[in-house]
Amino acid sequence: MTAHANIQALDIAAIRSEFPILKREINGKPLVYLDNAASAQKPDAVIDAVANVYRHSYANVHRGLHTLANEATEAFEGGRDKIAAFLGAERSDQIVLTRGATEAINLVANSFGQSLKAGDEIILSQMEHHSNIIPWQLAAQRSGAVVKWCPVTPTGELDYDALMGLMSEKTRLVTIVHMSNVLGTTNDAARIVKMAHDNGAAVLLDGSQSAVHLPVNVSDLGCDFFVFTGHKLYGPSGAGALYAADDWLDRLPPWQGGGEMIADVFEDTSTWADVPHKFEAGTPAIADVIGLGAAIDWISQYDRIAVMEHERALLDRATRGVADMDGVRLIGTAQDKGAILSFAIEGAHAHDLAQLLDKYGVAVRAGHHCTQPLMRAFDVTSTVRASFAIYNTPDEVDVFIEALNKAKSFLI
Ligand code: ALA
Repeated sequence: MTAHANIQALDIAAIRSEFPILKREINGKPLVYLDNAASAQKPDAVIDAVANVYRHSYANVHRGLHTLANEATEAFEGGRDKIAAFLGAERSDQIVLTRGATEAINLVANSFGQSLKAGDEIILSQMEHHSNIIPWQLAAQRSGAVVKWCPVTPTGELDYDALMGLMSEKTRLVTIVHMSNVLGTTNDAARIVKMAHDNGAAVLLDGSQSAVHLPVNVSDLGCDFFVFTGHKLYGPSGAGALYAADDWLDRLPPWQGGGEMIADVFEDTSTWADVPHKFEAGTPAIADVIGLGAAIDWISQYDRIAVMEHERALLDRATRGVADMDGVRLIGTAQDKGAILSFAIEGAHAHDLAQLLDKYGVAVRAGHHCTQPLMRAFDVTSTVRASFAIYNTPDEVDVFIEALNKAKSFLI
């Protein structure tokens, strides 16, 4: 986490006033935005940072010898430094800038994946987002490696005994979500890392949700790879990162070719730029990385533990309200979870509930949440998901519960 000299108290009304979109009305009702796990809204600090790049300091990065190119490069590399500090990386050159978590996982699957041989095993879990499934299925198809699945328990926790049982000398990588985007479950990263490392396997943690809801320190987690996206952390869409521990980036081959990632190009061969640039072909998302740096500065004004407790209180309030309703099934009741609440209601389709909630100004996500194997494990095709952010309030939770009651009575 970035050290910030002046940690601010959590004044939610003041925080809300920094998010212009929260002043909107939807269908004549004040917006209650509870779709934060899909993407969070942006404060003025981020919107202004992106606009200011284009207004005052925009040029391509790394290649220019003029003032604007130097300013843009400095601000862009400053974004990398902020991500490194925020995630607790030891060095900025352990951070590869990507479009988001999906691209970061694809990078590892295509680069680390080149070393996979027939019979090697990759372990993932039933609670993975499709972005941490498909790249490994493709890598397995290319190499003959085998994908193994760790089940989840009925409360939505990893089955750690089963995970241990899957480990063998064939295991090359354990790739698991740190916090589930559906269940909210926070997985025990230290336990996973120890199991995998004891078996000589590497660990990738998908931190798309955990980096928002928890203070994360990748050096303490001890994982080999950690992927993260900025748009859920109040930053622009299109900027995220891969963290790689130790000398992984030096050892791995590039995955995409193009400008920026080379040292010298000859007719018959080429050599690569130093890390992390070896993995960053083409013009990057310049303004978005700078905007992500602004988002990190913005969230780092606040005590992350206080933010976590605020969100947890919202989750508890919403969970009580939903659990009180007839016919409700909560999907994901782990003890250790972030501010994400999924549920199904007997006799009411999740899509219909979400559309009716929208009539009351309440935005939630409904569907399979890009986790079809998890939906099957819970024997549902879809859930309603309410997910909370720093700017949400207890009053908004009450509006959500009231609207859900009305929507439910309309459908059942
Ligand atoms: N991964 C995002 C979600 O869970 C899009 O909604």
